[in-house]
Amino acid sequence: MKRARLLPGLALIVLAALAPVSCSSDEQAANGDPVAGKRLFAAQGCDGCHTFKAAGSKGTVGPDLDDASPNPRRVLAQLRKPGGIMPSFADKLSDDEKADLAAFVGAGNASGKAVAEPFAPDDKRLADCRDGNTECLEQAFGNLVFNDGPKPALDRLQSMMTSDAAVAGDCHRIAHRMGSAALARFKDKVAPAFVAGSAVCASGYYHGIVERAFLGQPTARLAVVARQLCSDPQITEQRFLFYQCIHGLGHGLMIYTGYDLPGSLKICDDLRTGFDRVSCTGGVFMENFNSSYGVTSKYLRKTDPIYPCNSVVERHKLYCYLLVTANLLRVTNYDQAKTADLCRRSEKPWVKTCFESFGRDVSGIAGKSASKALAGCRLAEANEGDCLYGVAREIVNADAEGERGGRLCARAPARHRAYCYEGVGSVLAALEPIEQALTARCRKVSGRHARSCLRGAGLVS
Ligand code: HEC
Repeated sequence: MKRARLLPGLALIVLAALAPVSCSSDEQAANGDPVAGKRLFAAQGCDGCHTFKAAGSKGTVGPDLDDASPNPRRVLAQLRKPGGIMPSFADKLSDDEKADLAAFVGAGNASGKAVAEPFAPDDKRLADCRDGNTECLEQAFGNLVFNDGPKPALDRLQSMMTSDAAVAGDCHRIAHRMGSAALARFKDKVAPAFVAGSAVCASGYYHGIVERAFLGQPTARLAVVARQLCSDPQITEQRFLFYQCIHGLGHGLMIYTGYDLPGSLKICDDLRTGFDRVSCTGGVFMENFNSSYGVTSKYLRKTDPIYPCNSVVERHKLYCYLLVTANLLRVTNYDQAKTADLCRRSEKPWVKTCFESFGRDVSGIAGKSASKALAGCRLAEANEGDCLYGVAREIVNADAEGERGGRLCARAPARHRAYCYEGVGSVLAALEPIEQALTARCRKVSGRHARSCLRGAGLVS
């Protein structure tokens, strides 16, 4: 028997419209195709005068475009009305071509689109990347996926994350590139690429697939593409994959729209079900706080690390707060005690949620060390239980099984154990659609706390 289960908090969702945010020039720049832009950059001789890493060019007549880092609007303006000695392209290029160039050249500053380029396999191997060069690693892992398939490549990534600091540090972006490579291997078919994947390193592989699937789509069509993207039965049949797809959608939307938070949230809001909407929203906020491409979103404030959670509409707060510690940890330089302090000072009704988010990040930082995760959660003091709940969920999500999460809960302080097992159950429920099998899995990993696990799974009250 299959059950469509809603995430807690959904009943609170109130519908309201968000104002659209782009002006026409932004819109046009954002609509360009960065891949076509890359071709034009060479064909039009831009490369002869400009140094630009993404194009592999080393011209020195004009400014270095990596240093200048113009946004798409600035590039458009330059092409429409050049100054100084740069030749005029105003009449030479069509509006579309100008937009394509703007999307390509402006990507580093605002849109991030060029980073979602299609994967181009070459003969780079992991052995060539001994110096820890991240571009080399991303390409080499991508080649592994393209040649050998996602499964062995992702296993390799998982094992190298524990033995190689450069791989561990860049694993999310590596996994993104692997997702893009999988789409190339499976000839742009999202479903087989998804089914063959894994959630290693915060699901970067799934995000990479989705982000790449948007490529070349005009902004006006994003909502339609978004609704279709995860609808293949191969994906919808598996709750876990379905979640990864919809959540990846949120990441992809942010990257593709140039970190346009309100615009991305609006597309999430238009998805079909409540589950779709909140999963997508979570991806949007995660990408906002923790850009896959090192972009600093304009929806972050140095002096107010809780922002935008304290300013978004009520229905978006839950998923904002569930991810806010990604930002708090960054501003505190990964000081867990200071991060816990900031959680305590967030909006009262959301302190609990902030600590659940804290737990997820504490677990990520602790890696496989249960002791470190438990120590991190002690910093949460009165909210230790919320933190442990977050840890349990993160572990089960990362493993796609409950054993390690169950062992963690067994070591948690007795008063928090039940809630910890609820966390285990809540994620197991997303992994296991068959009720009987879910019950068996809860029993197996939580022993005499099975009832708590089952409660978390929504099977008992
Ligand atoms: C003959 C050399 C030459 C060519 C070809 C050329 N540029 Fe330029 N470009 C320049 C110079 C010189 C500047 C410096 C500012 C000025 O004189 O306007 C410039 C400025 C720019 C800027 C502004 C950078 C900033 O500081 O914000 C952009 C963007 C730009 N070029 C993009 C392009 C693109 C895209 C092409 C190809 C369609 C191109 N350029 C072709 C010489 C060139």
